[in-house]
Amino acid sequence: MNSTASTTFKTAPIDGQVPGTSGLRKKVAVFSEPGYLETYTQATFNAIEPAGKTLVLGGDGRYFNRPAMATILRMAAANQVARVIVGQNGILSTPAASHLIRKRNADGGLILSASHNPGGPDGDFGLKYNIANGGPAPEAVTDAIVACAQDIDAYHITDAAAPSLSECGEATLGNMVVEVVDPVADYASLMEELFDFNAIRKMIADGFTLRFDAMHAVTGPYATEILERRLGAPTGSVVNGNPSEDFGGGHPDPNPVWAKELFDHLHGPDAPDFGAASDGDGDRNMIVGNGIYVAPSDSLAVLAANAHLAPGYAQGIAGVARSMPTSAASDRVAEKLGVEAFQTPTGWKFFGNLLDAGRATLCGEESAGTGSDHVREKDGLWAVLLWLNILAVRGEGVAQILKEHWQTYGRDYYSRHDYEGLDSKSANHLMSELKSRLSTLPGQSAAGLTLTGSEDFAYTDPIDGSLTTGQGVILAYEGGARAMLRLSGTGTEGATLRVYLEQYVDPTGDLTRDAQEALSKVITATSQFAGIQDLLGRTAPDVIS
Ligand code: G1P
Ligand code: ZN
Repeated sequence: MNSTASTTFKTAPIDGQVPGTSGLRKKVAVFSEPGYLETYTQATFNAIEPAGKTLVLGGDGRYFNRPAMATILRMAAANQVARVIVGQNGILSTPAASHLIRKRNADGGLILSASHNPGGPDGDFGLKYNIANGGPAPEAVTDAIVACAQDIDAYHITDAAAPSLSECGEATLGNMVVEVVDPVADYASLMEELFDFNAIRKMIADGFTLRFDAMHAVTGPYATEILERRLGAPTGSVVNGNPSEDFGGGHPDPNPVWAKELFDHLHGPDAPDFGAASDGDGDRNMIVGNGIYVAPSDSLAVLAANAHLAPGYAQGIAGVARSMPTSAASDRVAEKLGVEAFQTPTGWKFFGNLLDAGRATLCGEESAGTGSDHVREKDGLWAVLLWLNILAVRGEGVAQILKEHWQTYGRDYYSRHDYEGLDSKSANHLMSELKSRLSTLPGQSAAGLTLTGSEDFAYTDPIDGSLTTGQGVILAYEGGARAMLRLSGTGTEGATLRVYLEQYVDPTGDLTRDAQEALSKVITATSQFAGIQDLLGRTAPDVIS
């Protein structure tokens, strides 16, 4: 037997590698430095004490997944893990991994992905630990991992080679069982339980057309199985459906900027009835109707208002949770339904307790994340299927549904402005400077708008009472406008300032304006109050979504 655990000592611990909103993300070059992946993996193991446990392992298929997975398996064996359940060829979308952890009562899981960040040798890689409920590790766990990473001096790895992951079945590595499973089957069955596949199949058979852009990322096989094989969409409805290690050289982020091809197709002469895309690891979604883009905050609101039309939610929803920078559109739906609405910090991990406690059924973020209590991650294909279920039952198009929604609830015009590649010092200075002036701002005006409130957003978890502070600044203006400012926690190059802008218009107002135009006052006022030009030297954002 050649599976004796050996211990390799590293000289330098990993300092200050704090996992951001979703695990640790770094350039491939950093992750592949000798000992780097090993040190972070061992820190995770030290924090979770995996001996005798069952873990799920999978990733989005990006570059460095394969060698990283082999290393993690060899380390799991040396750390006395009892069983690892791995997706075939190492593939699992993030929501499918979450489902597998729950379904198999695993103790947790490791997901290898940098989500929507570009892949390839010059791209990004990431590692994230999910807990037994299938969701991202909460702060107590990530803090423990960080603490372990600070003073680690050894990692454990078996000498034996990791088994091949190309066939389903069981193998052993030392005393550990490596169980290779079909990455799609369990997830697809869950979707069949939640949604009325017969109704969707009939709508498609009756001539409804769709295009799903998998962006050369992990949802290709999932979408092909579900949309084409099970729901009967014609072959070719799923485009860019073969996952590649560098996502075809693209940026697998489903928004009008990076999924431009799909966006343009849905606005062109041959537009199908429905378009959608998902990101690198399958947890984000973009929804586009024929000639109309659905902003993620609106999508959450529409899904909340219509979820009862799908079998999985026929009993109604218990509550809706949204991250702080997401527009208030879903709050209006919750109010009308008489259910709770929650405003959490950015990052899916903050929804976990609400979902576990049955207080929220649907959750969403402005950054194209939508999901429900069926798993503990956001879920791109789930959102697509809920939309399709709603369209099938209502027998109306996306544009019509959106229009009727605004006529009922009013419209929250919304946009996010990103200032990228900033020097971290200046970005931090802007935020701390703004925070130091918060109490003096209410009553001041700019661009004809008066500030009525300002807040450094903090959140007390209603379930476990934990307090999370410093989650971004909220500026509230007269007349239903709001702006939020925070620094990104997922970037790997410099700092990114995100400025989120919204303006509510009631059902009697003009519901058909261009969003940037409807937001022009709040854009100008916010930029002045925050001193964007003065402190960052920037006159315009790099990305508007
Ligand atoms: C971004 C999004 C956030 C999301 C996260 C992970 O984080 O803004 O909503 O939860 O990616 O997908 P950020 O870079 O803003 O910290
Ligand atoms: Zn993602």
